[in-house]
Amino acid sequence: GAPVQQDISKIDVGQMVITEWRGQPVWIVRRSPEQLAALASQDGRLRDPKSENEEQQPKFAQNPHRSIKPEWLVMVGVCTHLGCSPKFHGDIKPEPFDAEWKGGFFCPCHKSRFDMAGRVYQGVPAPTNLKVPPYYFTNADKTLVIG
Ligand code: FES
Repeated sequence: GAPVQQDISKIDVGQMVITEWRGQPVWIVRRSPEQLAALASQDGRLRDPKSENEEQQPKFAQNPHRSIKPEWLVMVGVCTHLGCSPKFHGDIKPEPFDAEWKGGFFCPCHKSRFDMAGRVYQGVPAPTNLKVPPYYFTNADKTLVIG
């Protein structure tokens, strides 16, 4: 499939935009400083906190924020369990979530939970972190190219 371009110059902090690449939804999230600061607090509860599984994230995403630029999270929006579409919960903590959850993504099909970097929690059906596709920035960082 051809690379997909997305204008990211008008995405607000905390907002998610969805595009499509190779027939799959790709999420682009502009994370807030608070959301980024909360990531490290979740490490002890995650399956792959350092994002070491190379099938789920390219080398450039094997860092604490799982991305090229800290504020921009780019992921394939497909649950790594059986392929449902997780829901974005930026700041909301719906039941039955514990107080330690700092927001992220929740798959309603079988209750898999991911943090604001798409890292999977222990004790849920999804085996791996959400997938990070290949991407880069261009046009003075106003455009994201996926693929
Ligand atoms: Fe997401 Fe099963 S498909 S938890």
